[in-house]
Amino acid sequence: MNAAHNKVRKHYDEVADIYDSRYDRNRGRLYYSRLSENVLELLPRGRTLLDLGCGTGLFIQRYGRYGGSAVGLDISPGMIRRARSRCRMDRFAVGNAEILPFRNESFDAVSSLLAFSYLKEPESMVREAYRVLRPGGVIAVVTLGKNLFTSGLPALYAMGEAMNIRYVGMGDFGERYYSESEMNDLFSEAGFTDIRVRRCSFAHINLIEPLYEIARKIEPFVEERLPYLAYNLLASARKPG
Ligand SMILES: C[S@@+](CC[C@H](N)C(=O)[O-])C[C@H]1O[C@@H](n2cnc3c(N)ncnc32)[C@H](O)[C@@H]1O
Repeated sequence: MNAAHNKVRKHYDEVADIYDSRYDRNRGRLYYSRLSENVLELLPRGRTLLDLGCGTGLFIQRYGRYGGSAVGLDISPGMIRRARSRCRMDRFAVGNAEILPFRNESFDAVSSLLAFSYLKEPESMVREAYRVLRPGGVIAVVTLGKNLFTSGLPALYAMGEAMNIRYVGMGDFGERYYSESEMNDLFSEAGFTDIRVRRCSFAHINLIEPLYEIARKIEPFVEERLPYLAYNLLASARKPG
């Protein structure tokens, strides 16, 4: 792990105890439900899941409602501690998603929500996901995409760090946002097939009122007709077999 990884790990250790409050109030819950339901629809239910950058286990908890079992991996021991107390039946490990400590072909599904932008070697994570998936297994990733709004985020987050603002994700982490074709290339170079990349979510949790309420109302329209305005990319693919 390098200095950039350590910085991300330190930040998430520091915000681990306030992380869930971001997603358990009205707009946070709506935002997270929308993203996680999109991912759930793409994954086989009731099987073995590996969630990369699992944080406090919010997605693993949702996956578990349909049976199956999950393993969560996260670089932050603080986040993993919270995940272990949330999902007592699942297994968790501290580690870097770019080098997976799992055997070949040991999972039916790999997910990653809101963590991909932090990766320094995304191609390595995608290659590793391919390795640990069984033939026919599915990967689904949600991550901020490149667009008009997200282009200003790194500067905003760096400013927030300079001002010492304690807020989830606030810091200069060299985050990377992707275009549809970049995600497509990453998956295809690793050997995946049935690759699908689309935009989702317009009502971003960080929007101020009343913009948030307006964004929420027009979200379905934006996703369908003006997808380049949506914040997140939802990318999925299958390992042949
Ligand atoms: C915004 S949180 C998302 C957490 C969780 N996926 C969720 O949906 O709530 C980003 C997470 O990615 C983790 N992370 C960042 N870089 C990572 C890496 N290289 N390997 C594993 N986890 C990483 C962070 O520690 C943090 O828990």
